[in-house]
Amino acid sequence: MFKTKIGNLDLETCIYNASGVYCVEFGELLKLADPGFSNSVILTKSCTLEPRIGNNLPRYYDTKLLSINSSGLPNLGYQFYCDNAHIIKEHSEFKKPYILSISGLTLEDNYKIITEAVNNNFIDGIELNLSCPNVIGKPQVGYDFTIMEEIIRKASEIIETGRDARLESGSGFLFGLKLPPYFDISHFDMACDIINNSNVQSLTCINSIGNGLVIDTEKELVAIAPKNGYGGIGGTVIKPTALANVHYFYRNTKCSIIGCGGISRGMDAFEHILCGASAVQIGTHFHKKRNVCFKEILTELGSIMKSKNYKTIDDFRGKLVHYK
Ligand code: DHB
Repeated sequence: MFKTKIGNLDLETCIYNASGVYCVEFGELLKLADPGFSNSVILTKSCTLEPRIGNNLPRYYDTKLLSINSSGLPNLGYQFYCDNAHIIKEHSEFKKPYILSISGLTLEDNYKIITEAVNNNFIDGIELNLSCPNVIGKPQVGYDFTIMEEIIRKASEIIETGRDARLESGSGFLFGLKLPPYFDISHFDMACDIINNSNVQSLTCINSIGNGLVIDTEKELVAIAPKNGYGGIGGTVIKPTALANVHYFYRNTKCSIIGCGGISRGMDAFEHILCGASAVQIGTHFHKKRNVCFKEILTELGSIMKSKNYKTIDDFRGKLVHYK
């Protein structure tokens, strides 16, 4: 009922974690690999060349409607996520693809990590993160279309070269991007142009809405410490922006779309899929509920599908109706 495909990757269910949440440490990745949980992909924390401890605490805060974070890319370094891919996949009985999220601090760092990933047969693809809002002094690549075009072109070259070698061993490799939210139609169109001239296969829409400010009114204090309280906003309040991005990229590219933003119930997942998502990722709600959230959301989605007589997600994916 929930089977799906992103690029050439077959997934058992259409739900998994958003990068960043419980996917930094070895034990967290093992839990994501556990066949007892309904998530269908093991997606790592965005990695950098060197390990990082991240920004000062507190750096995460949430309410019923939203979350704010400024973690600052704490991660164990790309070598850790590459070297442990086979052990973690083995724990999933090789049923869940392992996708490396990459957020190198320079273009060269990204190219080096991509090269390593595509040459590792236990890594099934990358989600190249063009949208981290929380590293001080590093703008979001997805908002600079010149650099975005350059990084995608070079990444494509590296992946094509690596893929040729992998094909002989029979395993494919997903080239995906994690995009920031766009808010202006001209920006959507510029991003689509770049993507349509590349061999990117999947788009995760959206990363958090960057540089929001949340206030603890009791204390008259910013909710998080780094960057004077500015951080990426996630959770229920970002769903309309997420849906708009999912739908635009679904209609205007050939990529598989992975919806992310404001999903805590089956109906939220249903809306994302109706807008064109082939799978959904859970961030803020996963942070709140841990691994049980995947099954809960799927159970609710299953009831909605049953009530509408849909047997597979392809029966309604992208079929959102517009006024004439
Ligand atoms: C972080 C936040 C993001 O939204 C992201 O895409 C990557 C990293 C962080 O602060 O760690």
